[in-house]
Amino acid sequence: MISKIKIFLILLIINNNFLLNSQQYNDDLGPDFHKKKRSEFREKMPDNSIAIFFTSPVMKRSNDTNFMYHQNTNFYYLTGWREPHGVLIIYSNQQADEKGKYYEQLFIRERNEYREMWDGIRLGIEGARKMGFDRVQLRSEFIETELDFSNFDYVLHNELRDDVRDNTNDVYDLFDLQIKFEKLLSDSSNNKNDNELIDNKKLSINTKTLNDLMKSLRQTKDKEEIELLKKAVKISAFAQVEVMKAIHNEMTEREVQGIHEYIYRKYGAAHQGYNSIVGSGGNSCVLHYVTNDNNNIKDQLILMDVGAEYRGYTADVTRTIPVNGKFSNEQKEIYNLVYQAQEEGIRMSKIGNSFTDINKASYKIISEGLISLGIINNSRDTSKYFPHGVSHHIGLDVHDPGDRILSENMVITVEPGIYIPTGSDCDPKWWNIGVRIEDDILITINGPINLSSDAPRKIEVIEELMKQKSPLGEFKLPIIN
Ligand code: GLY
Ligand code: MN
Ligand code: MN
Repeated sequence: MISKIKIFLILLIINNNFLLNSQQYNDDLGPDFHKKKRSEFREKMPDNSIAIFFTSPVMKRSNDTNFMYHQNTNFYYLTGWREPHGVLIIYSNQQADEKGKYYEQLFIRERNEYREMWDGIRLGIEGARKMGFDRVQLRSEFIETELDFSNFDYVLHNELRDDVRDNTNDVYDLFDLQIKFEKLLSDSSNNKNDNELIDNKKLSINTKTLNDLMKSLRQTKDKEEIELLKKAVKISAFAQVEVMKAIHNEMTEREVQGIHEYIYRKYGAAHQGYNSIVGSGGNSCVLHYVTNDNNNIKDQLILMDVGAEYRGYTADVTRTIPVNGKFSNEQKEIYNLVYQAQEEGIRMSKIGNSFTDINKASYKIISEGLISLGIINNSRDTSKYFPHGVSHHIGLDVHDPGDRILSENMVITVEPGIYIPTGSDCDPKWWNIGVRIEDDILITINGPINLSSDAPRKIEVIEELMKQKSPLGEFKLPIIN
């Protein structure tokens, strides 16, 4: 008779073999996209240069558990590779050795049957080849490789992170790769300026050039990236709609956060693109409030700045609504001011305009409005209540790299806000009102397209929608004392 232990072992082996055999990630962009981006990057590199990219470190969350791994976004953009402990090298000029000619090398971590049983698939050398890399080596070979930087005029590299996990376990030794690299850098550079590209024939080592080149690639989105962004934004907008229907006075900030994040996953998004900001009452005035632990949201405004990450691309959408379904007069005044400022900001989101044009247009409306409501006397005080810029790029990062001057196929946010915390120097009737409205805008030759328009912004439409019911608002669980 087969014992339970034997059955367990057989299942383990079957399961493990399945893992070892499945050799692809679920990547909507595909190897050709990443390959094209590597060649576009190479074309932009200075002559006789080498660029070195490291994967993100694995970060410890608690004892022997880690934070969810998130690949360095430049690394992901150029490779599609999602595993830690890797190095990508791109050369501007063709290299050659006894094995042949090459422009790029990918160093990855080795397969490990035991670790894959715990942590899941590692694609290994074979998997990396399928993803379009000819020169794939193990990370241990990077440690051993003799890289002579003096052969190059420029060494471009990404920031080295010092928040890596310790290297006591073989799974976590990105640290070794970085130590080796840092040593190479210091041997080669002695006293060279790390952050300036020096246009002479001396070796220049810096992170700025790499970041500038990556920015120039990532700031305008290709068709397939726009499709992913549209999906991330639509998911986020529909989550806002569902929350508008479900929310009621007995909910908590955490529960509202949970509805947004549940709906992301229901649509197949793996994560939120940044920590969800769900602040009611005075918490709505804390710009990046992520504690979300107020249990009494009754009759408050609630600011929800949340975005789904879909296949790596993240939305960034904010709606501010009254928990009880009806804006008070004061809330309406502030909300409509932000709304008008946003409308003007969106109108200005045109090719050739800059973030400064959008900022100025929104700022002017809020400034004049705050004066006419008697909240400030002088436009110089506007920034007390509107302390941030209006736009940034979105993409693989919620704050994606990009220029301030707009061009076709950029995707940016327009997000003015007014925040009046308790104790502000104005009539207390305005206190604890914080309003931000944030939409994700695709820049096109035919003008701005609001990708998050499925989530209503007009007061009347929001109030009407909030009268509807959602099963998520009715959902009841047993009480735990
Ligand atoms: N969610 C952060 C921001 O709006 O920039
Ligand atoms: Mn934003
Ligand atoms: Mn936001």
